[in-house]
Amino acid sequence: MHEAQPRILKLYELSLATGWTAVIFVLLTLNVLHERAQTVEMARIQARSNFQRDVTYRQWNASSGSVYLEVSKEIQPNAYLSQVPDRDVTTSTGKKLTLVNPAYMTRLVFDLAAQGQEVKGHIASLRPLRPQNLSDPWETDALQAFARGEKEVSSVEQMAGASYLRLMGPLLTTQECLKCHGKDGYRVGDIRGGISVAVPMEPLRRISAQTLALQASSFVLLWIAGLAGILFGARHLRRTILERNRAELEVANLNRHLLVLTSDLKAANQELESFCATVSHDLRSPLMCIDGYCQLIQHLPDDRHLESCGRFTAVVRDQARRMGALIDTFLQFSRISRGEVARQATDLSAIAEEVSAELRMESPQRQGEFRIACGVTAHGDPALLRVVMQNLLGNAWKYTGKSEHALIEWGVRGNGEETVYFVGDNGIGFDRSQGERMFEPFSRLPNAQGFEGTGIGLATVKRIINRHGGRIWCEGELGRGAAFYFTL
Ligand code: HEC
Repeated sequence: MHEAQPRILKLYELSLATGWTAVIFVLLTLNVLHERAQTVEMARIQARSNFQRDVTYRQWNASSGSVYLEVSKEIQPNAYLSQVPDRDVTTSTGKKLTLVNPAYMTRLVFDLAAQGQEVKGHIASLRPLRPQNLSDPWETDALQAFARGEKEVSSVEQMAGASYLRLMGPLLTTQECLKCHGKDGYRVGDIRGGISVAVPMEPLRRISAQTLALQASSFVLLWIAGLAGILFGARHLRRTILERNRAELEVANLNRHLLVLTSDLKAANQELESFCATVSHDLRSPLMCIDGYCQLIQHLPDDRHLESCGRFTAVVRDQARRMGALIDTFLQFSRISRGEVARQATDLSAIAEEVSAELRMESPQRQGEFRIACGVTAHGDPALLRVVMQNLLGNAWKYTGKSEHALIEWGVRGNGEETVYFVGDNGIGFDRSQGERMFEPFSRLPNAQGFEGTGIGLATVKRIINRHGGRIWCEGELGRGAAFYFTL
């Protein structure tokens, strides 16, 4: 769970960054599209105003019954007006003037415009008087559209390798037009033709490119700022989560530790209780004995006093010694759980030899055999391991006390992975169902009642083995001996 959270966060962070990038991309695309449409719209407005201007001055020309201009290199009499009687006039001062019809004027204006500006114009008709005025294919389409009722046609077109916005509007026949066009069969309201205007897109596109560049850079900045925000936020969040997780883990560990401590404490408390019970019970019997003998001594008749006193005090001292030994055992047991385990190479066989020799010394009258394997070593605390050996060999010696041919074995059995040490005997053994209970402090087996003991020896052994990180278990059968196995 603690690993998964940052991973999900990573996913969120990634999708947020992707989403943000997508949003920026879409916005930028929309902007580019809008800017392009805007450019075309600007060109269209420019073209439309050009067209309107042309229509206006043409209208002025037609309504004023056309105008006369001085003949010059550029302005020559219009061949298409040859049938008009007073096309050419000479003023009283001898100046030659010629009639300029609206279409001619338009052409003159367009020619003038073509020199300076880049906006092109063309007057066109499907049935022109002047062949050059024939509509090109695009204009033909537009004129046909006007016939269907359209008011204006415009689009971006390629002309001479450059792109232009072309816009065309119709020229409608009015009363004034009929003066010259009436004979062609046109009536008022007919579409006589149209004027097409072409606005170059290049200059406008240059402007819009600048605008776009500016916008794009601000979008990129925005994008970077957003990404930085996401990254920073995610990192902050991740750190917070990790910290919280760490704290949770710590609390959980503390709790676990506390639970262990509590159960340890409970066990210790229980042990203490039974310890107290045993101590008071076990210490009471020698005390009672001492007290009994002291009373005897007090009430001895004078004549037998000296002789019996010696015997009784011997018993009293014996009991006192026993009490001392008991106290020693108790102290040892309680000390084992506290001290450090100082591990070093230890010769267990040597210890076994020493212990067995001590046991024989204690009861020299007993017959019994010790079979001790040589050279068995272990890595452990020598002092503690001596206690183990004393207890196990001591028990074996004790519980073979009533056997005819006591045999006590010490050795080792390797089972590949670990070394298993064992102490076996052919003593009174035990009931298999009691096997586990034996290692509990102060528990004594029913068939061991005839033997002296505190019930603390095996508990001590188990503690020492546990403190070495090993295990201890036993096998046995009533009347057929017992075997204790342990690892370190
Ligand atoms: C004074 C005579 C005159 C008047 C008035 C006149 N035009 Fe024309 N128009 C001509 C002549 C001549 C041409 C042919 C060639 C040229 O001059 O370009 C022409 C050409 C045109 C053309 C170009 C197509 C073609 O046939 O070559 C259009 C379109 C046109 N006139 C529309 C009109 C309209 C609309 C009016 C009325 C507002 C009008 N004209 C008034 C004389 C006239």
